[in-house]
Amino acid sequence: MKKKNKNYPEEFKRDALELAETRETSMAQLERDLGITPGLIYKWREWYHIDTLGAGNNITGNCIEVNQPMNQIKSKQRVADHGEVFTPAWMVEAMLDLVKDETERIDSRFLEPACGSGNFLVRVLQRKFAAVELKYGKSDFERRHYALLALMCTYGIELLEDNIAECRANMLEILADYLKIAASDDLYRAASYVLSQNIVHGDALKMHTSADQPITFAEWGYLGKGKFQRRDFRLGDLAQSSAWSAEGTLWAHLSKQDIFTPTKTYPPMTLSELGAALPGDIPKETS
Ligand SMILES: C[S@@+](CC[C@H](N)C(=O)[O-])C[C@H]1O[C@@H](n2cnc3c(N)ncnc32)[C@H](O)[C@@H]1O
Repeated sequence: MKKKNKNYPEEFKRDALELAETRETSMAQLERDLGITPGLIYKWREWYHIDTLGAGNNITGNCIEVNQPMNQIKSKQRVADHGEVFTPAWMVEAMLDLVKDETERIDSRFLEPACGSGNFLVRVLQRKFAAVELKYGKSDFERRHYALLALMCTYGIELLEDNIAECRANMLEILADYLKIAASDDLYRAASYVLSQNIVHGDALKMHTSADQPITFAEWGYLGKGKFQRRDFRLGDLAQSSAWSAEGTLWAHLSKQDIFTPTKTYPPMTLSELGAALPGDIPKETS
């Protein structure tokens, strides 16, 4: 008779993976001590993408290191009030794999309209950093600037203030780990500012911030030689994009540039200018 696979709780898997990182015995011995099938820890590692993102850059293992909830709910009340159920890591991976090429492109833009504490955005960022490492790993200058560009291309909206704070903190930690930078680094401050702009505290359905202003998003670009450009667009206008360009409408022949005008265009900015733009954690809606 075929042996039935045993289901282990997420908590157990996380503890096992943490033990595997710090163990003083062999993996086989650890598996025997835990009473689990030989090879299972390697499978779980693969599942959570531990040690798969390139050697030497220490972005390994973040799925279990950065407060990503392996528990899918915080409280029953929050589930009832806000539908807050976090997506498990394996499902995030499977969904991102559906658009794998885009997740592995540094400047593809992702918006998570109900981002929670960042389960999707964190993994998108890690995939983008793997692409940065492959393409720019040899030049520290390029690596730093393209890692920031990757962050600039990830956006989120979230209703609950504590989730917003967690999401920004989780994403910042992933970047800091990848680049091995401290809070005093210009790039850390620039990233903190970018996150305060890109991860918006608001209502995605109403397209309004928590201060009841229309949500605007910054379109960031890297001009090279350490300079970034920024133009702001209203989310409401961007959401009309597909309707405007649908075949058969009077406007189908128009290019996006003809239809959309930015609400604000900024002069090119360096890392240190971005870092000095605002204290990192001032949210967009109060700026
Ligand atoms: C089902 S959870 C998903 C969280 C995250 N995307 C994930 O997959 O782990 C939904 C999240 O959307 C937030 N939310 C609910 N209504 C929202 C709205 N109108 N605008 C923005 N966020 C909302 C909740 O606070 C919650 O964090």
